[in-house]
Amino acid sequence: ASLLATRVSAGDKDWLSPVYKQIFQNKLPFPSEKPPKYTYTNQTTGVQIDYYEIEIKEFESQIYPGLKPAKLVGYDGMSPGPTIRVQRGRETVVRFVNKANMANSVHLHGSYSRAMFDGWAEDLTEPGQYKDYYYPNKQSARTLWYHDHAVSHTAENAYFGQAGFYILEDPAENALGLPKGAYDIPLALSSKQYNSDGTLFSPAAERDSLWGDVIHVNGQPWPYHSVEPRKYRLRFLDTSVSRAFKLTFETDDNKKIPFHVVGSDAGLLTKPVQTDNLEISMAERWEVVVDFSAYAGKNITVKNARDVQADEDYNSTDKVMRFVVGKSVSSTENNGNLPSTLRTVPMPPNKSGVDRKFKFERSNGEWQINDVTFDNVNNRILAKPPRGAVEVWEFSTGGGWSHPVHVHLVDFQVIYRKGSRDGVLPYEKEALKDVVLLGKSETVRVIARFAPWDGVYMFHCHNLIHEDHDMMAAFNVTSLADWGYPETTQLIDP
Ligand code: C2O
Ligand code: CU
Repeated sequence: ASLLATRVSAGDKDWLSPVYKQIFQNKLPFPSEKPPKYTYTNQTTGVQIDYYEIEIKEFESQIYPGLKPAKLVGYDGMSPGPTIRVQRGRETVVRFVNKANMANSVHLHGSYSRAMFDGWAEDLTEPGQYKDYYYPNKQSARTLWYHDHAVSHTAENAYFGQAGFYILEDPAENALGLPKGAYDIPLALSSKQYNSDGTLFSPAAERDSLWGDVIHVNGQPWPYHSVEPRKYRLRFLDTSVSRAFKLTFETDDNKKIPFHVVGSDAGLLTKPVQTDNLEISMAERWEVVVDFSAYAGKNITVKNARDVQADEDYNSTDKVMRFVVGKSVSSTENNGNLPSTLRTVPMPPNKSGVDRKFKFERSNGEWQINDVTFDNVNNRILAKPPRGAVEVWEFSTGGGWSHPVHVHLVDFQVIYRKGSRDGVLPYEKEALKDVVLLGKSETVRVIARFAPWDGVYMFHCHNLIHEDHDMMAAFNVTSLADWGYPETTQLIDP
């Protein structure tokens, strides 16, 4: 509340800011797709490797007309960064060149990268340096995203622009006939706050959260997108520092329309799940298919309900974007009924009991996991699952805060939730995930197989303020040899 005096408030009803006055008047932008710089063949495996080069550099974005432009830092000088689209089975090497003035570390969120390419928070690339990241792309089709992960200033780097889509495709998904091309739309949500001179408010001094009151989609506050009266696939990603959403699609007379959730963090669900609202917290990806065919000539507005998080800046954030539905359809390709099943999701085998418990709490002004902070370098490895082990992890927190919990390397299934929300959401049940929202006063259990690689990986709260200060720890997937088994068992590589 103390910030209201010094910033351009988007939603204050008495002096609606210029940017809020333009609600739904600016077009939805799309990040451009980046072609590889060149392709070569891995001499040992014969696999094709696509090589990309991305520069992390400053750019300006004029959000508030008449005020100063916001100075941002993004991948190739844009935000979201360029989309990388890859076919499963090809490998990629991406060189990230740091032309900015802060150190970075790049994490490809959703990829089971080897530890050295996973964006470990202390593996910093300083200004003037570059690092080549290698990604195997052997997973099934899914929506990943790459973003900064530098220790203690991930919030700043990601919020000022370092986030982009990385879309993995495969033949099985292509064969399903889901909407494609112009009918398959990536939507990166974010919630930001501006200073009264038009520049972006920095999260650097924040220690709790940065809610933001200006909702951006693909970098544009409250945009609109013209669509045809047919089916669309929408890939939602929440890149916000602290804001989770509960999205609905509503007609001009405030009727919620039903839609189908088809994908999650780890790709397709087992089957489409119909709903009229979608909860999405930071770093989560949820893909939906929406059918606009009954709304020719009308608007469908994406709104955000308050109930996932209560916060002081809610008022202007009850709207997200608008779809303006045209009258004619130019292509009916991939516009048929959704298949009743999408794929066999490789769920971990059932297992009872809880293997490890993690408490996400604040103590002495610090955000901690089991009383540990990431800067506690001697104690921050909180688990050593043997490679290949299936484990149930339990996350819990008290009444004050919610925490989107992200575990690197693995895909997990959410199997239990008790507290302010009871039960696993219908679409969570059919999904593998890598982030789960631990709501206030909730206990959540997830099950995962700790594979395919050995190595030390992070897990943390994806509220980037909490992550930076210092709600992050690590786990060490240890090799079978360490546990007295012969090392003949091959790496598990699904
Ligand atoms: Cu999306 Cu550890 O990060
Ligand atoms: Cu948190």
